[in-house]
Amino acid sequence: MGERKHDKLLGIRTVGLREWKDGHAQYNRYEPTPYKALDALAENYKFRGINRVVDFGSGRGRVAFYIHNRFQLPVTGIEANCQTYEEALENKAAYRLKAQHIAAPIKFKYGLAQRYKIDKRDNCFYFFNPFSVHIFRKVIHNILRSVEKYRRTVDLIIYYPLQEYKDFLETSTPFTIINKIRVPGASDKKEKIIIYRLNEEVFDTDECINF
Ligand SMILES: C[S@@+](CC[C@H](N)C(=O)[O-])C[C@H]1O[C@@H](n2cnc3c(N)ncnc32)[C@H](O)[C@@H]1O
Repeated sequence: MGERKHDKLLGIRTVGLREWKDGHAQYNRYEPTPYKALDALAENYKFRGINRVVDFGSGRGRVAFYIHNRFQLPVTGIEANCQTYEEALENKAAYRLKAQHIAAPIKFKYGLAQRYKIDKRDNCFYFFNPFSVHIFRKVIHNILRSVEKYRRTVDLIIYYPLQEYKDFLETSTPFTIINKIRVPGASDKKEKIIIYRLNEEVFDTDECINF
């Protein structure tokens, strides 16, 4: 099924790109995760044990609507581009008419991902190449502080993982890879999803944890 057709089923408009007008070096453009990648994620990962999902750099909201619709989970999207954020809200109004039966909340916040206060119920964090590794480090730091305070298992879903993101997670954090999901028909090597997990048992060890 085409991207627009998929959008139509959800009652949303998420196709297209948006560059930053003032050319932010640290913030990447808007581009939605392809539905075929979301389908592969849904079929392989299944969101078992997940209470709340956060999409950092949520754009027009495609990932949030998709997960909310398919898994009936609470989802929060954080978006720093005002115009894109407004479009997510318009999408939400239209989507809600189609998804009145789903009680779980779906929220969009306008602001910087690195300033989002991690909620103790958040336990799954989605990234599709939203910003520089410098900002990514800050966001991961916030997640780790939250997990230290409110111990729980948390997952990171990284679509189109950049080498800098992978190097940072593998060398400087206690996250480990639990799954790599191939996107069917992908020609680009980066077009895949990596799931990283931090198990709450990591805190029971006497070893020095590298945060
Ligand atoms: C590649 S798009 C991904 C959109 C959406 N997550 C998806 O997969 O369909 C990245 C988004 O991150 C936003 N963004 C960039 N820097 C940000 C920041 N510091 N805080 C929040 N959002 C940011 C961009 O405006 C853009 O909409």
